[in-house]
Amino acid sequence: MIISLISWKGGCGKTTSSIHFAALLARRGQTMLVDEDRSRNATNWTARGGDALPFKTFPPRALGTEARRHDHIVIDTRGGLEDQDLVDLYDNSDLVIVPAIAESMTLEALAGTAQTLRKHGRDLGKLRVLFTLARKTNGKSDKVAEAKAAVAELGITPLTRTIRATEAFRDACDSGRLVRDVKNPNGKLAWMDYERAFAELTS
Ligand SMILES: Nc1ncnc2c1ncn2[C@@H]1O[C@H](COP(=O)(O)OP(=O)(O)OP(=O)(O)O)[C@@H](O)[C@H]1O
Ligand SMILES: [Mg+2]
Repeated sequence: MIISLISWKGGCGKTTSSIHFAALLARRGQTMLVDEDRSRNATNWTARGGDALPFKTFPPRALGTEARRHDHIVIDTRGGLEDQDLVDLYDNSDLVIVPAIAESMTLEALAGTAQTLRKHGRDLGKLRVLFTLARKTNGKSDKVAEAKAAVAELGITPLTRTIRATEAFRDACDSGRLVRDVKNPNGKLAWMDYERAFAELTS
């Protein structure tokens, strides 16, 4: 299975989600993570942990040799893909995930993605939006629920499961581990968020 992660706005959890989905795919077979981002965040995360993660991270140039040795591939793409890059990526992935924060800028970018794919004759069937950095509602308004409705309105499928906001992710990144393996007790709950999102993705 090939899962690609994209987003226009930085800092929405693209790398964090790539690492955790790669770990979940690794339960099903040999998995590689391809780090297409110039910042090399995923590569550095993996390197900091030594052998803590159940998959290896490679630069794009390694795909030709490594793809045949792996059952599953996760691609952490660079931000702001050109239209044709987006279409190529879409055609060559089984699922394309957009990690997003519930705010208007994200929704505007998603509308642009939907429009580009439709303009090139693609349906939006492989696209999923995963809301990350989700905070508890304050009772007055549920921003994530509103954002999910807006995404569905665009014809894109939002995942029901969202990823909670917790500092545990920073600890995971700093130590090169998965969020379930850090001291912060919220790490286990955050890992379960990814497990449930993954189950939804692959059901
Ligand atoms: N669910 C979360 N809760 C709290 N912090 C998070 C969560 N997900 C990611 N973060 C933090 O937010 C920051 C951005 O996350 P990440 O690097 O995964 O995003 P990105 O989309 O890959 O960013 P970039 O555009 O730089 O590639 C990081 O400091 C990360 O630890
Ligand atoms: Mg990143």
